[in-house]
Amino acid sequence: MPAAYERYLVPVVFQPFAEDLTARAAALDPRHILELAAGTGVLTSELLATAPSAEVTATDLNETMVALGATRAPGAAWRQADAQQLPFPDASFDLVVCQFGVMFFPDRVAAFTEVRRVLAPGGRFLFNTWAPLATHGFEVALQAGLERAFPVDPPRFFATVPHGYADPTLVTDDLTAAGFTVEDQLELTLQGRAPSTADLATGYLTGTPVRAAVEDRGDAPAVRATVIEEMTARLGPGPVTAPMTAYVFRAAA
Ligand SMILES: C[S@@+](CC[C@H](N)C(=O)[O-])C[C@H]1O[C@@H](n2cnc3c(N)ncnc32)[C@H](O)[C@@H]1O
Repeated sequence: MPAAYERYLVPVVFQPFAEDLTARAAALDPRHILELAAGTGVLTSELLATAPSAEVTATDLNETMVALGATRAPGAAWRQADAQQLPFPDASFDLVVCQFGVMFFPDRVAAFTEVRRVLAPGGRFLFNTWAPLATHGFEVALQAGLERAFPVDPPRFFATVPHGYADPTLVTDDLTAAGFTVEDQLELTLQGRAPSTADLATGYLTGTPVRAAVEDRGDAPAVRATVIEEMTARLGPGPVTAPMTAYVFRAAA
């Protein structure tokens, strides 16, 4: 799953936002950066290239992601870690970053409280989270394809998990409950560019947790063909582009 995620989804969906978050991180001139939910290291690589004097510690819950990330971005110190129980002493970092990870934390206030604990006083927490599913052109088309392929009980993963923490007021309340002061919050729309709907379908159907639902159904080629047909009807043939919207937060410890 991480290899398909890295090959088909990272360049299209995650790279543009990693460049944005890195520019915001570099403007803070950090010395000791902790990255949470670093995945295969797309943001890590950007941070290492843009802030070469900073020490970067990259973490993820999933060992396979950590192994792939350590290969992609070997300049960081990689470590398996749950964001809700960080294995670092108090006040160890001046910046904590997280790209599209907070939606996956079962207890966000607990995770944010841990982030604040490992930040030095005045340190910053910089992260993004997806806006509602309807604002992500590729995933709207994908969901329509899934609903055609699974007329009964289609997978709802995208609406409920990646796009399931899409309320900026709730995010601000959770940050405040963890003791943070929100300094900046904005909505950001970037364009994704993919070589084809076939590549996107492969990425989403094999590089995300939807893979399990597709495998359970036992006819993955038919699901893939239906999803590609629906995505192509909506996005067009050949190289495809679509808007993708996220919220970006910067909070002070
Ligand atoms: C959508 S991926 C984002 C990965 C990466 N930041 C990127 O931009 O490509 C979400 C990541 O969150 C990680 N994750 C899920 N729950 C986590 C937790 N409790 N603590 C740390 N990481 C977690 C997953 O393993 C996965 O790598």
